[in-house]
Amino acid sequence: MRNTSSFPIYKNQPTIPSEENPIKKISDNCNIASGHKHQNPRKVYIETYGCQMNVSDSELMSGILTQAGHRTVNDIDAADVILLNTCAIRENAETRVINRLEHLNHRKRRDPNLIIGVCGCMAQHLRQKLIDAAPYVDIMMGPDAYRDLPMALNAVVSGDPFLGLQLDKTEDYADIAPIRKEGIRAWLTIQRGCDKMCTFCIVPFVRGRERSIPLKLLTDDVKRLVEEGFKEIVLLGQTVNSYHDGKHDFGDLLWRISEVDGIERVRFTSPHPADATDSMIDAMQNSPKVCKQLHLPLQSGSTPVLERMRRTYTAEEYTELVLKIRDRIPQIALSTDVIVGFCGETEEDFEQTYQLMSDIKFDSAFMFKYSDREGTLANKMLKDDIPEKDKARRLNEIITLQEQISSEINQNTIKSVVPVLVEGDSRRDSEQYHGKSDTFKTTVFPKENANIGDIVNVKVHSATAHTLIGEIVN
Ligand code: 5AD
Repeated sequence: MRNTSSFPIYKNQPTIPSEENPIKKISDNCNIASGHKHQNPRKVYIETYGCQMNVSDSELMSGILTQAGHRTVNDIDAADVILLNTCAIRENAETRVINRLEHLNHRKRRDPNLIIGVCGCMAQHLRQKLIDAAPYVDIMMGPDAYRDLPMALNAVVSGDPFLGLQLDKTEDYADIAPIRKEGIRAWLTIQRGCDKMCTFCIVPFVRGRERSIPLKLLTDDVKRLVEEGFKEIVLLGQTVNSYHDGKHDFGDLLWRISEVDGIERVRFTSPHPADATDSMIDAMQNSPKVCKQLHLPLQSGSTPVLERMRRTYTAEEYTELVLKIRDRIPQIALSTDVIVGFCGETEEDFEQTYQLMSDIKFDSAFMFKYSDREGTLANKMLKDDIPEKDKARRLNEIITLQEQISSEINQNTIKSVVPVLVEGDSRRDSEQYHGKSDTFKTTVFPKENANIGDIVNVKVHSATAHTLIGEIVN
């Protein structure tokens, strides 16, 4: 159920420059920049907001900058360039960045050579508004323009802000080697952009059209990641399971990645229920490397609300899908996303969401109040008419419900043995390790003789809504 042609994504969207709202093109800065070579190696600090895709994009930015001779640093005080990689999904994500920028501007007043850049979805979303709100920002760059970061660093010397805000439906950065933090879990972007047209969502407007990276390149990446010591790969995409490179679908990709020698675990986020094909479910059921964990965004339990959201499934279809997946993979852990207070959501609609969450019993959930985003279809066509106090109450009700459910589900794991990939020291106690179970539950246990990167069997002794606590058994 891909939605590739029914909506003109590149028309009337805020990311396209127009006569009324002109945006300087990258090439306008080219007379200042001499090609892509740096004139002045910089120390760049990247601060990441929002989703895992942004974390992965920051790794990409780090790769691009390093290749050009710059250096990324972990100490913000040592940096002469600060890039905020931002999120536009809800209003509070943007408010946080505006506040952060005001703080950074204090430093820039003391140190006028400091370069401040706003990258990612918020730059793409706000464009001129952000320049007006924070005229001291030197670089504004959307998710498809990161190749121009080195050029931007050279260009800002002139004092003009550098704007890289074109979307590019062919940009997949497949040839760029991201620089990742060492660890056991690597995030691998397999697809960029989004062709779904959920009415509440800003993503298609700030990340452009969906494009998949060819399977062969991805399997080569995974081989390299294994050589670097990674044990677990998390495949990333906005609707990750609509992956198709022209020859291979998402199920094929899951199989091929999980067959790479040395890979212990494969996960993915976030799929769309409409693309949960048998090919995907078969790979999850039958590949021992694909984890028995699925994040399946519900958004609402009311069919009329789902229709207004253009989610392309009904509440009944979602429930049937969950039953089918649980039937094939009984041990699967399910998590979800839910929005309350979407345009026109009645008490009855909300109760249906509450009821569906009680019936399905997700292992965990990310729950949000609807946030009206300029540029989305809902913003144009529907009224954000649910009072803030009702949104807040509904959110609290489902949070309380979900806490009870998560706690009950985790309590039920007590006395069972779960396989855990050891990630590192527990934050609270250096005598203990933490890691994730196959079902993606944080698990804490005494170190014994285990090493980071091992998969150990942990017998669960106690549990909270968010953590399993136990000890290694043989
Ligand atoms: N308001 C509130 N939540 C939103 N999400 C996406 N757009 C909005 C919005 N405008 C939530 C959805 C999505 C998750 C990543 O963020 O639940 O699945």
